[in-house]
This record gives sequence, C-alpha cells and structure tokens, in this order.
Amino acid sequence: MEYFRLANGLEIPAIGSGTNSFAKVKGEVGSQYDGHTDEVLSAIKAGYTLFDTAESYGNEEAIGNGITESGAGRENIFIITKMRTRIMGQDTASWKPEDAVTAIERSLAKLKTDYIDLYLIHMPWGNDEEAVEIWRVLEDYYDRGVLKAIGVSNFTVPDLRNLLDNCRIRPMADEIKVAPGTPNEEIVDFCKKEGILPIAWGPFSFKDDKEPLQEIGDRYGKSWAQVVLRRNFQRGILSIPKSHSFEHQKENLDIFDFELTEDELRVF
Ligand SMILES: NC(=O)c1ccc[n+]([C@@H]2O[C@H](COP(=O)([O-])OP(=O)(O)OC[C@H]3O[C@@H](n4cnc5c(N)ncnc54)[C@H](OP(=O)(O)O)[C@@H]3O)[C@@H](O)[C@H]2O)c1
Repeated sequence: MEYFRLANGLEIPAIGSGTNSFAKVKGEVGSQYDGHTDEVLSAIKAGYTLFDTAESYGNEEAIGNGITESGAGRENIFIITKMRTRIMGQDTASWKPEDAVTAIERSLAKLKTDYIDLYLIHMPWGNDEEAVEIWRVLEDYYDRGVLKAIGVSNFTVPDLRNLLDNCRIRPMADEIKVAPGTPNEEIVDFCKKEGILPIAWGPFSFKDDKEPLQEIGDRYGKSWAQVVLRRNFQRGILSIPKSHSFEHQKENLDIFDFELTEDELRVF
C-alpha cells in the first residue's frame, strides 16, 4: 500500500474501500440495512485498511462491527465518516452547533470507537455563516484528539474559500466525484494548491466507452478499472472504489506496480 499525507502529517492509505451499499439486503444503496459484515470482512481480507462511510449510509454500525470481527485492530484501520448536512434533508435545516456535537457522538457510538481518523461535512451547508459555525465544532473535536483529521465533501471552490477565510484549522480533505468524464480539475487543482487532499468518490461511476482505458491497461496487464485508479493516484488523488466482489476488491488495490505515461494520463 502507498500512502498520502494529510496537511497535519497524518498518513492515509492511497486507496480505500467505499461502503455506501455495504450491509444492505440487496447490496444496493437504497435497499434495506440488515447489518451484515460480509463486505467489510472481505475487504479487510483483500488488504483494505481504509473505509469510507457516512451517517447517511446508515451502515456505520456494520462497518464498526466488521472491523472488530476481523481482528485487524482498530489502530490499523483508517475510518472516514461524514456528517449529514442541511441540504441532504429537512432534519438538519435548523441545526445549531450542539446538533453537530450530537452527530459526531452518534457516529462514534455507532462505529464503536473513541476516535475517527477523518471526519467530513458531507455536503456544502448552503449557508456560509452556518457552515463556519459547524466547522468550529469539528475544530473543537480535532483539538481534543477525537477527530484525528477534519475535512469536507462535495465542497466547491467558493465553499472551500469560505472555510479557508474563516477557519482556525484548515480543511484537510475534500471528497468529490472524480471519474472519467468528471475530472473536476478546477477543484482538484485548488485543493492541491491549498494543501487539501482530494478524495475521489465514484471513480467507476461513468458511462463512457471503457475500450480506450482497457487498451492502455493491456500494455501493463491491467484492467480499465486499475487504469482509472492509477491515474487518480498519479494525480495525487486518493480513490475509494466500492465493490461487493472479493476479486474486484483485490484488483482495485493492485495498482502500485505500473506507471502511466503523461500521454496516457491525458486520456480522460
Ligand atoms: N461523498 C459523497 O458524496 C459520496 C457520493 C457517492 C459515493 N461516495 C463514496 O464513494 C464510494 C464509491 O462510489 P460508488 O460506490 O458510488 O461507486 P464506484 O466505486 O465508482 O463503482 C462501484 C461499481 O463499480 C463496480 N466495480 C468495482 N470494482 C470494479 C472492477 N475492478 N471492475 C469492474 N467493476 C468494478 C462495482 O461492482 P462489483 O460490486 O460487482 O465489483 C460497482 O457496481 C461509495 O461507496 C461511497 O463510500 C461518496
């Protein structure tokens, strides 16, 4: 495994496992949660040490249970989770800082842990002043060592600027969609300039023809999926691909023994 380093010096695996459909009856995001830990156990067996979950996925408990059941040791696993935000539903429309405290405590309890490695605000808050108030709660938990790193998700450049202009502790990551056809160059470049780690969600969520990617992969004995992940890695972007298949989980980690050329990096 290779690692990136967050602005506070914390090492983070360069590939993690997405989880948004884990522990669900049909293995689909919207299907019923039944708490099974099969996918987490399979991912840990495949070699994953980073999991990306969120309160809104409704599966933090299964992620925590899977980590415990695996015997891997909490200290050897990096957990990302996220605070549900006001534009994700009415339930947060009138949130005050104390509600953010409750959300963090709820995630800690569900994950059965006393710290979270990287805690993110899931979506832009929709109100700059309120976003800063909520961010102060994250800063406070960071000061106390409960959140080892703090960041955001789906924040645009103006959303990031608002926090950067008003924060005491700068966001350390922005989790955004990065996939073929959605390179999100502007945010990625801004993040890199500001020392914010870009994290790519949905790296395989695209409909483009996979043939040009597979042609590149064939030169190295790799799949189109591995080309996508390798490209992100070479661009300094952490990827969190999700798979319910042990074979795919292993394949998605096996990207550190080849190097794409500058021309190949420009294919999407
Ligand atoms: N911050 C946010 O707002 C946000 C939004 C969306 C997602 N996320 C996070 O990002 C994670 C990943 O995104 P995602 O789950 O939407 O989609 P994704 O990882 O882009 O794609 C998942 C799909 O790709 C397939 N797949 C995985 N590895 C493959 C391989 N090597 N070859 C071929 N197909 C492969 C999977 O099928 P199999 O199961 O059959 O392998 C699954 O159908 C999520 O699980 C979640 O943790 C965050």
